[in-house]
Amino acid sequence: MSDASEHWDTIFAQKSDDEMSWYQDVPTTSLELLARWSQPEEPLIDIGAGNARLVDHLIERGWRDVTLLDVSHEALAAVRRRLSATEALVTYVVADIREWSPPRRYRAWHDRAVFHFLVSTLDQRAYVETAARSLESGAVLVIATFSSSGPTQCSGLPVAQHDPEEIGRLFASHFDLVTSQLQDHTTPFNSVQSFAWTVLRRR
Ligand SMILES: C[S@@+](CC[C@H](N)C(=O)[O-])C[C@H]1O[C@@H](n2cnc3c(N)ncnc32)[C@H](O)[C@@H]1O
Repeated sequence: MSDASEHWDTIFAQKSDDEMSWYQDVPTTSLELLARWSQPEEPLIDIGAGNARLVDHLIERGWRDVTLLDVSHEALAAVRRRLSATEALVTYVVADIREWSPPRRYRAWHDRAVFHFLVSTLDQRAYVETAARSLESGAVLVIATFSSSGPTQCSGLPVAQHDPEEIGRLFASHFDLVTSQLQDHTTPFNSVQSFAWTVLRRR
């Protein structure tokens, strides 16, 4: 078991939803951006999906081919228990995004609060290449990271901060920037975190 999977498994095994700073009952911005820039009939992958409710809402809104990838087995096991009735619509992948190779292609890629844990240039470049290999031309990538005025660590780990312009530059080898916004996220314990949301399109 890698350090990363051990770290995140411990968090998901020990904390309730309300003790996780990133928790949202309804992931409004993710849902709005995915509804605007992708289609329910298209395959979507959520990177570092955790135990997020995004997949529940996507299925409710008609998505039929959703892949959830996370380094934490615990997180995905919790989703699987919750969504047992929709087993056929969801694929679960326990993997570290830094080492994963896509077995197929997707039309939409979603990442909320995962890329910013990649603090080395090497890991960031590997992520961009993996995203490029995973997505067909014209496919959309929706990514939310801590902005330059966001936190400098999360869950006991250092994080990188990125504004949308920098995300655009980091992904420029394969992606064009479509739109972006800064947004404050209020945690379950009422602190505020500044996020940068960026939508990119695969060339
Ligand atoms: C801050 S949580 C966000 C969870 C979810 N995206 C959400 O919005 O609720 C970060 C998630 O990324 C996962 N994660 C962290 N590093 C990862 C990596 N290298 N590969 C895959 N997943 C990772 C963690 O297990 C955790 O579920």
